[in-house]
Amino acid sequence: MKPNECDILSLELADEGLRRIRWADNDMPVLESIRREFRNTTPLKGLRMSACLHVTAETANLVRALQAGGADVVLCASNPLSTQDDVAASLVRDFDVRVYAVRGVDNENYYKHLRAAAENKPHVTMDDGCDLVTLIHEKYEHQIGGMIGSMEETTTGVIRLRAMERSGALKLPVIAVNDAKTKNLFDNRYGTGQSTVDGIIRATDILLAGKNVVAAGYGWCGRGFANRCRGMGAKVIITEVDPVKALEAAMDGFHVMTMEQAAPIGDLFCTLTGNKHVIRAEHFEKMKDGAIVANSGHFDVELDIPALDRISKSVQRGVREHVDEYLLENGRRVFLLAEGRLINLAAAEGHPASVMDMSFATQALCSSYMAGNGGGLDAHVYDPPAEIEDRVARLKLDSMGLAVDELTEVQISYLSDWQEGT
Ligand code: ADE
Repeated sequence: MKPNECDILSLELADEGLRRIRWADNDMPVLESIRREFRNTTPLKGLRMSACLHVTAETANLVRALQAGGADVVLCASNPLSTQDDVAASLVRDFDVRVYAVRGVDNENYYKHLRAAAENKPHVTMDDGCDLVTLIHEKYEHQIGGMIGSMEETTTGVIRLRAMERSGALKLPVIAVNDAKTKNLFDNRYGTGQSTVDGIIRATDILLAGKNVVAAGYGWCGRGFANRCRGMGAKVIITEVDPVKALEAAMDGFHVMTMEQAAPIGDLFCTLTGNKHVIRAEHFEKMKDGAIVANSGHFDVELDIPALDRISKSVQRGVREHVDEYLLENGRRVFLLAEGRLINLAAAEGHPASVMDMSFATQALCSSYMAGNGGGLDAHVYDPPAEIEDRVARLKLDSMGLAVDELTEVQISYLSDWQEGT
């Protein structure tokens, strides 16, 4: 790979990156079996793919599967703080992937990397947050005629895509991989649940037992985080805007209240909503001295950080790695983690490989489906095909040595017969 064909921190990090990629691969048996199959069937042969994803060891193994399928893959980061620089180096040195990703880049370089991915003139794209599809619609619309479609990995991206579709702006078919049960029931719940706790603990070293933890949002991510915190002895409060989810949280045994009520009680706050300004000035002002605030949503807008800046007398950066201390006008301190960026990838390593195995197996199979059927799809947001979910779940069960029963003929007939009653 020529140096001007990629932008990474340093090739010298590649040995460590390769070790991490191999370690993650040990726990990604489903993706491995798809990689083996793709090597024989090459469903992506001749396709240029641009993927805008978190550049991690797990993503590296997805890229290897896409390459085995015959795709020419360019990878850029989907978040300025989530890149694993050593993995990026190994992808360039050992797997001949063009990578544009450096941890901690500013906004200008983040978008420079996205532009490089767009200028690859991809037939198929893959997004985690919808930044690449948005950029292509805004600045490279002339390329859309040459594209087959895209895949979206995360809730926030699907929310943006559905807004694009509603307003008539969407010009491409997109598969909402996030909405696959083999993705969100596991990745969002167990992956975000565990990696968010991991990120908070690595950043702060706090004990969760006995703490009042406030989780904003009770979607799959919030449910996962709340349950893991409870499992570690925290008293968990849920805030919600959706009455059904709030009711579910209450009946799951959590305290449910508004953020205004929770603000003076919480020791640790974490947003997992996909929305903006969930914790605002009026909440920061009510917090106890020493309250810790983090975000696990995709974008760094869930906490109103400009407002926190406005109501603070001073800010001390880096009182510990990933921790900034805000001294409020009222004399109390608020500790902000990872500048409000997604804590699980900024301060830890993201979701464990075992759960990314299912998300990325779903991505790989959806890419193959898009390559084979994309020409016939309209510019809508599509659910992933049910056969793919079924296949991924079966392969994962298989890798765990678990089996399911088969329906008998009698059961199949019973399920299709409306006359057989009491
Ligand atoms: N999103 C959350 N965790 C991730 C990981 N480990 N790799 C890629 N994307 C992720």
